[in-house]
Amino acid sequence: MRFGLMLVLLCSLILAGCGEAEPPAITFDEIDMTFADAGSGEKLYSQSANGAPTCASCHVVEGSGGGIGPSLEGIASVAGSRVSGEDSTEYLYWSIVRPARLLVGGYSNVMYGDYDTAYEAADIADLIAYLQTLE
Ligand code: HEC
Repeated sequence: MRFGLMLVLLCSLILAGCGEAEPPAITFDEIDMTFADAGSGEKLYSQSANGAPTCASCHVVEGSGGGIGPSLEGIASVAGSRVSGEDSTEYLYWSIVRPARLLVGGYSNVMYGDYDTAYEAADIADLIAYLQTLE
């Protein structure tokens, strides 16, 4: 009996510690690349919206931006081979909405983690389309 209770407590502790297990507010199914616009994505990349920090504050593209995160120059060429079974669109989606899921080597989990609530699905699609131009 007591052991059962301990087990329940332990399980809830583990689940509580696992915020990452919660599905993102915007699911990958909602990402429609058909109308995604790289131009709008580029604007959003360097302009803050809804209080979310700009991507440019932490990432370098074309020689400018912050150095907290890895440079995103050339990301279009490597995104599709980062995770086996994930194409570039899916990898970039996860990198934006759940940055802690997979950390780029040498970096820690400091990327802003609420883009899935700050932005709309169409915004995320635009950002992905923009990143896919960075070859
Ligand atoms: C507070 C700093 C910060 C902000 C703001 C930020 N990032 Fe990041 N980002 C990081 C760090 C640090 C990493 C490396 C650790 C990781 O993988 O989560 C990273 C990783 C990434 C990666 C994976 C790169 C690779 O080589 O696989 C992508 C893509 C990315 N960020 C895109 C974005 C986009 C798009 C935005 C804006 C919507 C953004 N980031 C905002 C810090 C940030």
